[in-house]
Amino acid sequence: MNDIALITGATSGFGRATARRFADSGWSVILIGRRQERLDELQRELEDKVPVLTLALDVRDDEAISRAIADLPDAFRQVKVLVNNAGLALAPQPAQEAELADWHTMIDTNVTGLVNVTHALLPTLIDTGAGASIINIGSVAGKFPYPGGHVYGATKAFVQQFSYNLRCDLLGTGVRVTDIAPGMAETEFTLVRTRGDKEASDALYRGTTPLQPEDIAEQIFYVATLPAHININQLEIMPTRQAWSKFAVDRD
Ligand SMILES: NC(=O)c1ccc[n+]([C@@H]2O[C@H](COP(=O)([O-])OP(=O)(O)OC[C@H]3O[C@@H](n4cnc5c(N)ncnc54)[C@H](OP(=O)(O)O)[C@@H]3O)[C@@H](O)[C@H]2O)c1
Repeated sequence: MNDIALITGATSGFGRATARRFADSGWSVILIGRRQERLDELQRELEDKVPVLTLALDVRDDEAISRAIADLPDAFRQVKVLVNNAGLALAPQPAQEAELADWHTMIDTNVTGLVNVTHALLPTLIDTGAGASIINIGSVAGKFPYPGGHVYGATKAFVQQFSYNLRCDLLGTGVRVTDIAPGMAETEFTLVRTRGDKEASDALYRGTTPLQPEDIAEQIFYVATLPAHININQLEIMPTRQAWSKFAVDRD
């Protein structure tokens, strides 16, 4: 039987590239996202190579998530790798100008959604045992504050600490946990953050060399396929052409 990876946010960016990377190496894939047509498209692309199961689900819906995991067909039941990738940033403006609804959406997706899927799959991953992995997609925004990062960065700080705390509890089960913290990457992320402002999204990536979804997919695959006795706790990855900056100071 093929190894099985379950990937959330598989309709775009890192998630879609990760689905392709695992499928290229013969893994069965379970793909989760809200956009059915994107899931269908990816299924058509990959199903000649490997078994593909698509689940059009919102990770914020805990009941739908736990039902779907409980009802996984036998051929997809024994998941070995969970890639908790679904997530988003909204409200690039300062905190004092942000809509409360946008804060809620980020918390509900990046925090609640991630724990919903993790909780539903933990018994399966523990049953899989040695070599199983939970790979959570955090962000450099979870470690380094920046203007407009407010709730998004805070949700990614949650992802880091949740990953580390899970490791403590899963000690002895063989299940590994990794927080992958990317820097600037060219996906639909900025299009979502700016609510469809293509020019703002293009401008962010123009004239530099951001990470590509395939770069992160390769790291996810690497972490998932290391020998079972190795746990990468965290991988922080930036483009060579991105770095930190000095502190800001308010002056008279
Ligand atoms: N790009 C970057 O610079 C960057 C840097 C660091 C970390 N990240 C993180 O990387 C992850 C992937 O982002 P990306 O850059 O690949 O962005 P993306 O291209 O916008 O992809 C985001 C994915 O998340 C899914 N998603 C969003 N809300 C969802 C929900 N409620 N339920 C199910 N799926 C949902 C989207 O699918 P549907 O819309 O079809 O549901 C989409 O497949 C996110 O967690 C993001 O925070 C991105």
